[in-house]
Amino acid sequence: MAERVRVMFTEEEVDKRIREIGEQISRDYAGKTVHLICVLKGGSFYMTELAKRITVPVTLDFMSASSYGSSTKSSGVVKIVKDLDEPLKDKDVIIVEDIVDSGRTLSYLIKMLGDRGPKSIKLTTLLDKPDRRVTDVKVDYTGFEIPDEFVVGYGLDYDQRYRNLPYIGVVEFD
Ligand code: IMP
Ligand code: MG
Repeated sequence: MAERVRVMFTEEEVDKRIREIGEQISRDYAGKTVHLICVLKGGSFYMTELAKRITVPVTLDFMSASSYGSSTKSSGVVKIVKDLDEPLKDKDVIIVEDIVDSGRTLSYLIKMLGDRGPKSIKLTTLLDKPDRRVTDVKVDYTGFEIPDEFVVGYGLDYDQRYRNLPYIGVVEFD
């Protein structure tokens, strides 16, 4: 079966949107330091681009969580594969995700990280599929809302491939 990727958002569109979110975060966090937490692996492309567009001081940390179950559906059971290096006490935290789908991963992470005593905790995601939500997750900064389609690129994978695409697309088979 041949695979191709149909473009949903071009590199230029993604760059422009990330720049806008960076400007908004810079305004909202004036006078503060933003502690960005990248959810690996998918969030890494978005986080580095976003961090470059934020003009207030930024610190970074990384964590990796995997949900048990099939590769295209999340089961709601989240395993922490790599925890943060730094404590969150009194930090202004923004969790950076590639996509919020059912919301299960994020609702678990927000609760877990919120218990570590940050001064504030917010969430940004490059993509949001609101129609798929099964838990109540409030996203503070959203790149794009998208329909219920399986997307790749800009950190998002299909069976670990396509993360490196500089645009966001949908895998099609013919
Ligand atoms: P949630 O717990 O259902 O919100 O799962 C979110 C995770 O599922 C994301 O961090 C992705 O790793 C993965 N995921 C959900 N939708 C897609 C998609 O369209 N393309 C690639 N990965 C996806
Ligand atoms: Mg992810």
